[in-house]
Amino acid sequence: MGHPFLPMPPKMTHIRHRQRARLLLALAALISAWASGSVVSAAAPDEAAVFESRIRPLLADRCYECHSAAKKQKAGLTLDSKAGWEKGGDSGAPIVPGKPEESLLMKAVRWTDKDLQMPPEKAGGKLSGAEIADLEAWIKAGPMIRARTPRRFR
Ligand code: HEC
Repeated sequence: MGHPFLPMPPKMTHIRHRQRARLLLALAALISAWASGSVVSAAAPDEAAVFESRIRPLLADRCYECHSAAKKQKAGLTLDSKAGWEKGGDSGAPIVPGKPEESLLMKAVRWTDKDLQMPPEKAGGKLSGAEIADLEAWIKAGPMIRARTPRRFR
């Protein structure tokens, strides 16, 4: 029933002050982290970790057998180095950084084209939905592919 223009009760003003102090502290911490460069480097391990934990093992398990420098290079394609997928195979570069829907690799693993189904049935068949989603997210993060993927990996 209080009048809208009455000053706030003292208790609430107190809470507000504390919130503002907390916000200022957080802001100060963020600014000093940014100034020391740790915000930028804090993001990098995550991206590299996704590649290391989800993408590299997947490519190694399901693709290297036929698409790696050490084993076979079917259709001229190697997927065990950045240079390999940038150069691409007979049909050109299979990954368009940032654009999974334009990437031949995604088309191949989705099995939407009956003439290009990777990995082939005889090599264990289609990836799981989660694995396909991981590849899609990885390609979508185009800058990560360009900047954070190690040059060579096995
Ligand atoms: C058992 C062997 C084998 C495995 C494993 C395999 N591929 Fe292939 N891949 C082939 C062959 C053979 C071709 C040539 C096209 C065809 O015959 O279907 C090919 C072609 C491709 C192409 C088209 C290349 C071009 O330039 O024409 C892409 C992209 C591709 N594979 C991606 C993958 C991915 C991604 C994986 C792993 C998820 C994978 N392949 C696993 C055998 C394999």
